[in-house]
Amino acid sequence: MTTAPEAPATYRLIDGKQTAEDIKHEIAIEVEKLRADGRKIPHLAAILVGHDGGSETYVRNKVLACQAVGFGSTLLRYEDDITEADLLAKVAELNHDPEIDGFIVQLPLPAHISSQKVIEAIRPEKDVDGFHPMNIGRMVAGLPSLLPATPSGIVELLRRYHISTDGKHCVVIGRSNIVGTPVSILLAKNLEPGNCTVTLCHSRTQDLASITRTGDILVAALGRPGFVTADMVKPGAVVIDVGTTRVADDTKKAGWALRGDVKFDEVAPLASCITPVPGGVGPMTIAMLLQNTLRAATGEVYPR
Ligand code: GUN
Repeated sequence: MTTAPEAPATYRLIDGKQTAEDIKHEIAIEVEKLRADGRKIPHLAAILVGHDGGSETYVRNKVLACQAVGFGSTLLRYEDDITEADLLAKVAELNHDPEIDGFIVQLPLPAHISSQKVIEAIRPEKDVDGFHPMNIGRMVAGLPSLLPATPSGIVELLRRYHISTDGKHCVVIGRSNIVGTPVSILLAKNLEPGNCTVTLCHSRTQDLASITRTGDILVAALGRPGFVTADMVKPGAVVIDVGTTRVADDTKKAGWALRGDVKFDEVAPLASCITPVPGGVGPMTIAMLLQNTLRAATGEVYPR
C-alpha cells in the first residue's frame, strides 16, 4: 500500500540576512589582510540612471555594504535623459580607471538606451554583475568566471545550509537572464551544490503545477507576488523565493512592503526549508556582488 507523502512537522527558515552578514564578515577579514600586505583595497563603482525607487534602494544598499566591508565605493548618478553615447563613454572611463576593480550599471535603464549594448561595453574583468556574454559563456562552459550575484547567492545558501542537491529535481519558474536561466545552469553543473536534474519553467509552460509539484527544490523567480500556492509544492520541498515586488501596504511607514513570489503562510508548513521575503535571497545578492568585487580586485578569475 502506498501512502501520500507527509508534510514535515516543522520547516527550517533559511536566514539569508544572517548568511549575508557572515559572508560580509569573511570579506572584511580578507580586506584587512590586503591592507596589512600593502595591496590594493577593492573598489566598486555603481552607475544609477534616473530615480526609480527600487533601483535607488538597491544601489544605496550596495554602496553601504562596500563601506561595511572596507571597500572603496563610487556612485555615479545620471538623469533619465542621458544619451546612450554618453553612458557608453562613462562605461569606457570606468573600464580604463585603474582604481575601479569592478562596476555595475543598475538595471533597468530608460527605454532609449540598449541595456545589452551597455552590458557588452563593460570589460568582462570588471563585470561584477556577471552579465557580460563572456562571463555567461564561461559559466556555461564551466570555466572560471564572474558569476551573476543572485544565482550564486542561491547556490551559496544551499551550500551553507548543507542542503543536498545531488540527483534532486530542481524546478525553476522564470527564465530571466539575471536569475532563472543562470541558476538553472549552475544547479545542473557537476558541482557541489549542483548535479540537479533541472526543469526550467516559464510563461508558456503547460500545466505548470503538475511540474512544480515534482520539484525537490523549487526556485520561484518570476516576479509575481504570491504566485506559488500550496497546491504547487511537493511536501518536503526546499523552496527558494526570489521575488521582491513592492506592493502597496498602508501599515508600513514607506507605504509599501516587499512581497515574494511564494504565498509563504500556506507553503512554509509544507516545505522542509524556505527562504522568507524580505531576509532571504535579497541580502545574498549584495554579499555575492561584494565577493565578485573581491575576486575581480585580486585577479582570481582573470589573472593580471
Ligand atoms: N536590477 C535588478 N537586479 C539587478 C542586478 O543584480 N544588477 C543590476 N545591475 N541591476 C539589477
